[in-house]
Parts: sequence; C-alpha cells; structure tokens
Amino acid sequence: MSKSIKKIAVLTSGGDAPGMNAAIRSVARTCAYHKIECIGVYRGYDGIIEGDFKQLTARNVKGIINKGGTVLKSARSQEFRTIEGRRKAHENLIKDGAEALVVIGGDGTFTGALIFSQEFNFPVIGIPGTIDNDIFGTTHTIGYDTALNTVVDAIDKIRDTASSHNRLFFIEVMGRDVGHIALNVSVGAGAEEVLIPEENLGLDRLLESLNRSRASGKSSSIVVVAEGDKIGKNVFELKDYVDEHMSHYDVRVSVLGHMQRGGSPSCFDRVLASRMGVKAVESILEGKTGYMVGLLNNLMELTPLEKAIKGESKINLELLRVSEIMTT
Ligand code: F6P
Repeated sequence: MSKSIKKIAVLTSGGDAPGMNAAIRSVARTCAYHKIECIGVYRGYDGIIEGDFKQLTARNVKGIINKGGTVLKSARSQEFRTIEGRRKAHENLIKDGAEALVVIGGDGTFTGALIFSQEFNFPVIGIPGTIDNDIFGTTHTIGYDTALNTVVDAIDKIRDTASSHNRLFFIEVMGRDVGHIALNVSVGAGAEEVLIPEENLGLDRLLESLNRSRASGKSSSIVVVAEGDKIGKNVFELKDYVDEHMSHYDVRVSVLGHMQRGGSPSCFDRVLASRMGVKAVESILEGKTGYMVGLLNNLMELTPLEKAIKGESKINLELLRVSEIMTT
C-alpha cells in the first residue's frame, strides 16, 4: 500500500442518514491505523469553503457508532456549485495540508466531488449515505436498512389503530424519486397495497385492489405510498379520491416525514459503514480517485463516481412480484 498521502479530509453532505457517524468513525480510525492524519469538515462543502475543520483522532470519534444524524453536520451547499466556491474550498484544503477527500452522501454530493476532483486534480472517494438507496453500484446505501426498520415499526403501530377503527390508511414514506423504501416496507409490514414511481398502478386499479381486499374479508387496509409516486398529485388527493369513490371507507393519511431519517443505526448499517470507511481510506492509499465504494455480492467494490451518479438503481422485480402475491 502506497503511503505517500499524509492527511485525509472527510465530510457528510446532503440529507443525513443513520450510520453516517459510523462511517466517519471508520474513516478516522482507518487513518489512525495507517498512521495518517484525518480531519473532519463541518457542514459538508460549506465547511470546506469556510475552513471549518476539526482534527479527528481514533479517540475523539468514540461513542458515535450508535448515534443517528452526523456529528459533522450536513448541508446542501449552494456556494460549492460555483467555481469560486470550489476554488476557495481547494485553497483551504491545501492550506490545511489535506491531500484527499472522502465524501459521505448521495448523488448530489458525488456530483460536487467529481467536478471538484477533476477541476483541481484532487483525489476523492465517495461513500453512499442516504436512506433512499437510490445509488447505482451498491445494493445498500448507509442508512437505508435503519430507515426500513424505522418505517416498518411506524406502520406496525398505525396498523393497530387502523384495525381498531376499521380504517384505510395511506402512509407516505420517503425515497425521493425511487420506491425502494416503499416496496420493502410494504412487504415487511404486510401492507395491502403499495404505490411506487417505478410502477404506475393507476387510480382504477387502486380502487379495484381495495375492493378486492375488502371483499376478501379485510376490514382495514394499509396502502404505502412512495413520496415520488405520480398516481395522484399527493397523498391527500388520493384520500379525497377514495373518499369520493368508496364512501364506505373511513380514510386517514399519515406522512411519516423526517422521523424516517433519525434514530440509532441498525447493526447492518454500522457494519456496512465500518466496511465502507476502511475501503474508502485504503483505496485512497492505493492511489485510487473518482470512485464510490459499494456493497456488491457482499464484497466491497469500487464504481466510478460518474457511473454511480448516472446509473439507475433498479427496483427488485422479484420483490415486486412477492409484494403482488402477498397483497392477494
Ligand atoms: O434524500 C433523503 C431524503 O430524506 C429524501 O427521501 C427526501 O425526499 C429528501 O431527503 C428530503 O429533503 P429535506 O430534508 O431537504 O426536506
């Protein structure tokens, strides 16, 4: 392993995700293991532009593996979208002696990192951290598994009240433009129907499906709606539509919102983040740049950032079928 690099900076950017802290800890400890320095950058790219750095040692990242959110804080930087902002960021990194950058975030974070690395010939490696799981080149992003468990837990609770009152609930879950969270939790929580952007069920088929479910003896129903689904303008319009066409139903809406991003990371996310942190730092030490670390066939693999950004993270078709059969 070449050790010409002496200092690595790490930041978290975009929407926070449970397990980001475990990734920060892993990057810091892998640096310590290889006897190189590590600095944490606060508030994503804004923090590089403002020179808001803190040295991370093996010891001062203790006690964070179990914490949700990100101790480095996060932001979606507008200034980093400008060449002036990126130039300032580069100057600050050089002034501080940082020779490579690990970015933890989603595709917006990776887009910034790629442009920056090409403009200034600065080594970067990405670690996928987002609850949406919408990144090509990894079967799991950090935070996704925890979010699934959080959402399943919330739906279990809503089901208690739904069945007590014989109600139909539309539950909106996050996921931006993809339906990974919705599809998985619908199977995991035994929802009666799921609406995802990748599959347009259509309003008529939704009514048919709800009627079938009622005819089969179900007195309450849970419909999971991905926030990116296009069947109605929003989940409240879906409620209005069903109210209008199925007056026998007592319909409620629950938008789970940002609680899905919080909480202590699952063991899966902690292990994934720890593995990705090691792989990211060791890839830099091997002279690699412009890649994202990912989990593929249970191995740590590198995918060019460009592909990770442009590639599509496809829905699991087998799971879609399982969902259909389970909602019979
Ligand atoms: O990308 C993570 C995510 O939570 C998406 O699921 C959601 O669409 C978006 O971020 C919400 O962003 P914000 O926190 O800026 O409202």
